[in-house]
Amino acid sequence: MRPLAVWFGTLMCLVAACGGGPSNNVGVRVEAEPNLAQASRNYIMKCSVCHGPDGAPVLLTAPDLRTSTLSLQERVAIIAYGKGTMPPHQAMLSKAEILDLALYIEAFRP
Ligand code: HEC
Repeated sequence: MRPLAVWFGTLMCLVAACGGGPSNNVGVRVEAEPNLAQASRNYIMKCSVCHGPDGAPVLLTAPDLRTSTLSLQERVAIIAYGKGTMPPHQAMLSKAEILDLALYIEAFRP
């Protein structure tokens, strides 16, 4: 029983705080620059099912992100709170991750 508990503790440590990127003493990620590699992974997992891997919609009612003209703030708000049939993402993504996604999808624009 005990070795398992120790192993689990180590695993949680790796997942939570000890392993990850830069963090301050309260465990909040400090965002110096956008983490676009992580945004790319989040996009593929959480957005591409409707918006397609490069912004060209898969779901017919989803807007084409390549021709979207929304401001950064508007994109952040829609990603966080959802709109119409687009679900909100604020419960599953941090504010920094949402901001990074809003920056990431801008690269789809020609
Ligand atoms: C279940 C399908 C679905 C998923 C998953 C989804 N979206 Fe959407 N998204 C939509 C739909 C539908 C709209 C149009 C909403 C409306 O205007 O009523 C939309 C709108 C948007 C818009 C506004 C574009 C514009 O010009 O109007 C942005 C930006 C956006 N989504 C980004 C994302 C990002 C980033 C993710 C992943 C975190 C995501 N979406 C996940 C379906 C989805």
